[in-house]
Amino acid sequence: MKKVFIASLISSIAIFLYLTVMTTNQVSYDRLNDKVIEGKKVWQRKACVECHTIFGNGGYNAPDLTKTLNTRNKSAIRSFLKERPVIRTAKAKRHIKLAEEEIDSVLSYLEFVNTVELNGWPPDPIRLNR
Ligand code: HEC
Repeated sequence: MKKVFIASLISSIAIFLYLTVMTTNQVSYDRLNDKVIEGKKVWQRKACVECHTIFGNGGYNAPDLTKTLNTRNKSAIRSFLKERPVIRTAKAKRHIKLAEEEIDSVLSYLEFVNTVELNGWPPDPIRLNR
């Protein structure tokens, strides 16, 4: 009885470790370059995180941007962050004008984040709210 218990304990630990390694391997670290890291810093410095979430972290009064590049055009995001719309909508009021390099790095950061496999998260209802 004791042997069966020890055997099942060891196999449970082995399965747990295997699944942990399998899921952490889904992050493509080779794409984590300096520009991506700079983009993360801009994301924090310019307080994007106050309103937007990435991986569920951040403020909840703006759309989650984890997978935004699946639905939004990169050049549209670029011009949105560079030049605020002429007609002052609520959307425009919340965004400060970013410098070209800052936009480049934020886009690299969003591209990197977009490559992370999240098993379908964020769910569809959140995407439909945009
Ligand atoms: C004060 C709150 C606030 C801050 C700070 C903020 N945003 Fe936003 N942002 C919003 C809201 C609200 C929307 C959605 C407006 C809408 O869809 O009408 C939005 C929309 C966007 C969109 C378009 C997303 C989409 O799916 O339409 C992008 C990209 C974006 N923000 C990036 C940024 C970045 C990058 C920063 C930091 C430089 C930032 N935002 C800072 C509130 C904010």
